Amino acid sequence: MSTSFDVIVIGAGPGGYIAAIRAAQLGFNVACIDEWKNAAGGPAPGGTCTNVGCIPSKALLQSSENFEQAGKHFGEHGISLSNLKMDVATMIGRKDAVVKQNNDGILYLFKKNKVTFFHGRGSFARAVDGGYKIAVAGDKPATLVGKQIIVATGSSARALPGAPFDEQSILSNDGALAIGAVPRRLGLIGSGVIGLEMGSVWRRLGSEVTVLEALPTFLGAVDEQIAKEARKAFDKQGLKIELGVKVGEVKAGKKGVTVSYANAKDEAQTLEVDKLIVSIGRVPNTTGLNAEAVGLKLGERGDVLVDDDCRTNLPGVWAVGDVVRGPMLAHKAEEEGVAVAERIAGQHGHVDFNLVPWVIYTHPEIAWVGQTEQQLKAADVKYRAGTFPFMANGRARALGDTTGMVKFLADAASDEILGVHIVGPQASELIAEACVAMAFRASSEDIARICHAHPSLSESTKEAALAVDKRTLNF
Ligand code: FAD
Ligand code: NAI
Repeated sequence: MSTSFDVIVIGAGPGGYIAAIRAAQLGFNVACIDEWKNAAGGPAPGGTCTNVGCIPSKALLQSSENFEQAGKHFGEHGISLSNLKMDVATMIGRKDAVVKQNNDGILYLFKKNKVTFFHGRGSFARAVDGGYKIAVAGDKPATLVGKQIIVATGSSARALPGAPFDEQSILSNDGALAIGAVPRRLGLIGSGVIGLEMGSVWRRLGSEVTVLEALPTFLGAVDEQIAKEARKAFDKQGLKIELGVKVGEVKAGKKGVTVSYANAKDEAQTLEVDKLIVSIGRVPNTTGLNAEAVGLKLGERGDVLVDDDCRTNLPGVWAVGDVVRGPMLAHKAEEEGVAVAERIAGQHGHVDFNLVPWVIYTHPEIAWVGQTEQQLKAADVKYRAGTFPFMANGRARALGDTTGMVKFLADAASDEILGVHIVGPQASELIAEACVAMAFRASSEDIARICHAHPSLSESTKEAALAVDKRTLNF
């Protein structure tokens, strides 16, 4: 087997495996190294996203949503069920099978594209003439030489000080996705994306869920009007969210976990739960890289320092995805991976960071791209806003899913779309139209004049665009 490569990618998450495939498509001889192990100790490429992130969380969100629909909403359709039960082991088994399909899919794609895969930990050994020596530690240790190196080592969950993850009672996302029985009382620290998604899964299955959030504002990065609407829906569902708290001591015992905290009024409180998920953000993975061997510059968070084009301080060394600045999202990592491979090939890969969409896969889903109303106000940009509620959309009514709205923000002078914000059914799919429109610098009038199928949720997008000019047709 060859040990010399044009490109060596360290990490096979969405940033790394996509970079490896794109580089191979461009004619390079590519190796990709990843250390993730499946339950049998074998390779499990796909990174956080595939193994303990995007994919398994969406599998559990779907199972739990099916359960909630069957229990709470099938009756409205005249469907009656008796003795409805959730077998958590089957749900987790299905989730594991979905993950494995994705792992296998990536191994297949590596073969198809002639990417050589190494299972183990990759680290910098030293710089050599025209490249870098990379050591692979694992079942089959190897030393590789690459002319270009792409670091795509991702991120890991941040623990609360003094409360390390034991994955039994204090859980990171890893443990949160493998809970074996519905906890009666579930606590979450952090009402960010993981807090809301994981809180939703277990609430739907019957847990009493309490989320403790340090910030005084709910979903501060989300458009205020959208966040308010989402909060209303979560309150109605019984997801208890306490804002402005200061978490103190966290004690895990035989009977569960006790969290001491001060509430927003600075009153001392305790929360007793059977399991606690800590979702307070993530830290870049650079400890195993031996960055100092080659002088690769890291930032204060342990992230690899890069410029807008993902170039590090070293010639021929690039970094993409969660291990660098910017949003920790799989599609952002992928776009950077493609752009870097193309730059190595002398092309002009490009990522528009303003057009990276966000989706929170709760019910209702929350999705947005571009600027929020509060950002436009802060930047003193003159804009016009248009909203359309799903309540006024025929398809949403037929679905029985009418919570939320689509909101457009357009430049007051040029009418160029500056941001689109959705809370409601299928927001994750609807946001794609906004991304396309904004990539082509469309105006709200452009969307308002495009024929959308009836009845469809996407008519709400067209109507919100019409609302910018105060001429909705169905509201
Ligand atoms: P990772 O996916 O973290 O992959 C890095 C890989 O490198 C891992 O396999 C790791 O084992 C390996 N590695 C690290 N160091 C080494 C080394 N020295 N040698 C060899 N291998 C190494 N994002 C979305 O866009 N949508 C979602 O719905 C979504 N849901 C999420 C849900 C959860 C619960 C979590 C935790 C995250 C979610 N994310 C989601 C975020 C998403 O998972 C990350 O943004 C994405 O995985 C980042 O990709 P990456 O390639 O940079 O890193
Ligand atoms: P997050 O950054 O989304 O949210 C963390 C929350 O914890 C914040 O609201 C923060 O104020 C709060 N917090 C921080 N320290 C705290 C403390 N000591 N006490 C109480 N609250 C505290 O991080 P999260 O949820 O851990 O997810 C990590 C990242 O993974 C996300 O930012 C996102 O990039 C990615 N992700 C994406 C998903 C998606 O795209 N649907 C789903 C899940 C994760």
